[in-house]
Amino acid sequence: MSFRALLTEKAADGTITSSVQTLDEGRLPEGNVTVAVDWAGLNYKDGLILTGAGNMIKAYPHVAGIDFSGTVSASEDWRFHEGDKVLLTGWRVGESHWGGYAETARVNGDWLVPLPKTLSARDAMVLGTAGLTAMLAVDRLEAAGVSKSAGPILVTGAAGGVGTIAISLLAKLGYEVAALSGRPQHAEALKALGATTIVDRAAFLAEPDKPLEAARWAGAVDNVGGALLGKLLKQVHYDGVVASIGMAGGTDLPTNVLPFILRGVTLVGIDSVMRPTAPRVAAWQRLGELFDAEAYSGLVEEIGLEGLPEAAKRILAGEVRGRVLVEVR
Ligand SMILES: NC(=O)c1ccc[n+]([C@@H]2O[C@H](COP(=O)([O-])OP(=O)(O)OC[C@H]3O[C@@H](n4cnc5c(N)ncnc54)[C@H](OP(=O)(O)O)[C@@H]3O)[C@@H](O)[C@H]2O)c1
Repeated sequence: MSFRALLTEKAADGTITSSVQTLDEGRLPEGNVTVAVDWAGLNYKDGLILTGAGNMIKAYPHVAGIDFSGTVSASEDWRFHEGDKVLLTGWRVGESHWGGYAETARVNGDWLVPLPKTLSARDAMVLGTAGLTAMLAVDRLEAAGVSKSAGPILVTGAAGGVGTIAISLLAKLGYEVAALSGRPQHAEALKALGATTIVDRAAFLAEPDKPLEAARWAGAVDNVGGALLGKLLKQVHYDGVVASIGMAGGTDLPTNVLPFILRGVTLVGIDSVMRPTAPRVAAWQRLGELFDAEAYSGLVEEIGLEGLPEAAKRILAGEVRGRVLVEVR
């Protein structure tokens, strides 16, 4: 049997290229479950992998795609049977193991999540790693006791995948949401998702920096890191909680300890990749209850495997709005 895949290769001069090729099933990696992939997603990390920008892939040729959904076609794992609908995000699939940009994937059954009954395979990849990560962040804010009456939650990188889904989940749960974005042209779309305030990224960063600033946010979901995270920490209310997810704006954290020791602010880290199975399955169930696929539909751009190399450049340039969904077959 053969299957189509986006194969990413490294030339002798180090150039990374990707093209759609037909491969024999004998080339699939080891694994005890084979999945006929229907949908995949494009995440910031996929952009790094497809362009080679992150230097993350040790062995080429490679099949990228950190997320996919589809149907089990063969299984040696007692938990999964032919015909089961499944999804996969993380576990370094698409990084150290071939991923979802192929009609067939072979993986370890430990990495699979049964598709929640309330989500279609397509919805699951509209959400993908971005949706799971946004849900994990919202769970953490709730668990830390951030109340809905404490003030707005600031979502940064608001027009991207994690940002847009975090806004819709927080708004659905009744939180007041402020969206910080570098792209004012998407303000109306962010308001339609439930953001009540739009904060301009450049204006926010241009405000004079102080060791501690006026408290504005009950909490935050941060996709950007760097100077932006450093500054927003100084604006968080007493006992507020900030979930650090991403590094679209940098990996450093220029700030000081005053928000922590004078306001009791908590900075929590969110990792979706190695999240253990039980909380992962619980987060997907909750996404299935909370996610409004219809309200989100205008933020989904659908492409095929051939469109991925170009879309990868756009996501790294911060030019993607919402989610890019890949129709694999
Ligand atoms: N911890 C985890 O498990 C986990 C999981 C998923 C993703 N992530 C990380 O979270 C981040 C967001 O992922 P994503 O898939 O949502 O990516 P995305 O769709 O590309 O969204 C990132 C957003 O960040 C903003 N941004 C981009 N470049 C920026 C810059 N130089 N300075 C400031 N803001 C910038 C843009 O929003 P605006 O145009 O609205 O400002 C952009 O839409 C990435 O860093 C990703 O690696 C982490």
